[in-house]
Amino acid sequence: MTARIIDGNALSRQLRAGIAERTVALKTRGIAPGLAVILVGDDPASAVYVRNKVKACDDCGLVSVLEKHKADFTEAELLGRVRALNDDPSIHGILVQLPLPPHIDAQKVIESISPAKDVDGFHIASAGALMTGLPGFWPCTPYGCMKMLESIEFDLRGKHAVVIGRSNIVGKPMALMLLQKNATVTICHSATVDLKAHTLQADVIVAAVGKRNVLTADMVKPGAVVLDVGMNRNDEGKLCGDVDFAGVSEVAGAITPVPGGVGPMTITMLLMNTLQAAEQAAAAAGLP
Ligand code: GUN
Repeated sequence: MTARIIDGNALSRQLRAGIAERTVALKTRGIAPGLAVILVGDDPASAVYVRNKVKACDDCGLVSVLEKHKADFTEAELLGRVRALNDDPSIHGILVQLPLPPHIDAQKVIESISPAKDVDGFHIASAGALMTGLPGFWPCTPYGCMKMLESIEFDLRGKHAVVIGRSNIVGKPMALMLLQKNATVTICHSATVDLKAHTLQADVIVAAVGKRNVLTADMVKPGAVVLDVGMNRNDEGKLCGDVDFAGVSEVAGAITPVPGGVGPMTITMLLMNTLQAAEQAAAAAGLP
């Protein structure tokens, strides 16, 4: 079997066209969706991620405000900036790029963001909403994975989903989203004894560990859907995921590539969350 490729670039283009249309509609009602992105320090990877987020906003007509601060920016100063943005009616989403320098308590900063502007979905109010099935912002990467499954009309009801990785940003929210769609979900992690025994049972596998070749062809049931969240470099310095793509694509029914899979979808869902935050602000303001 040669797997169907789930193209994150193509799906993103389609979704971003819809976001651009909704943005125009919102602007005619007097609201321009605005995202504030805060970068502290000089981590080169973070600088690239932030640049891509700002560019995506520009391409879809959203307003973006990028704040760059030096690595010695204090926690108190950062909390002050978040407070100001919470109170700024032109800003509908606030994203503080992680990781933050070690002298800043990232969790404290995340909790200082107004839940109504938490477009990353990292606030405990957002996590609690996801856990209880209430409306709230979903973390962008697992949200993008759900959109990819939707795009291939994959019905999760009664299916066995295995999530490899238990981070607060991907693994745990991913499991909750799959559960909400009535999958039977297993979360595997570094202390899992026999990973292969679990993945061989899976109809859907999400690999979100940050390590190359965590999933190889012998670990996949023929026809399973494989979503690769990993972002690693191989020995030649080329971008690769957590999945042995060449091998697994011979066994799986569908698979996401790296690059061009989950990565672009993460940014697309950030735009979607920001637009949603702006639409909710318009509704709260009683705009026609
Ligand atoms: N660092 C790596 N990925 C992310 C993300 O999705 N959001 C934020 N805020 N920081 C990140």
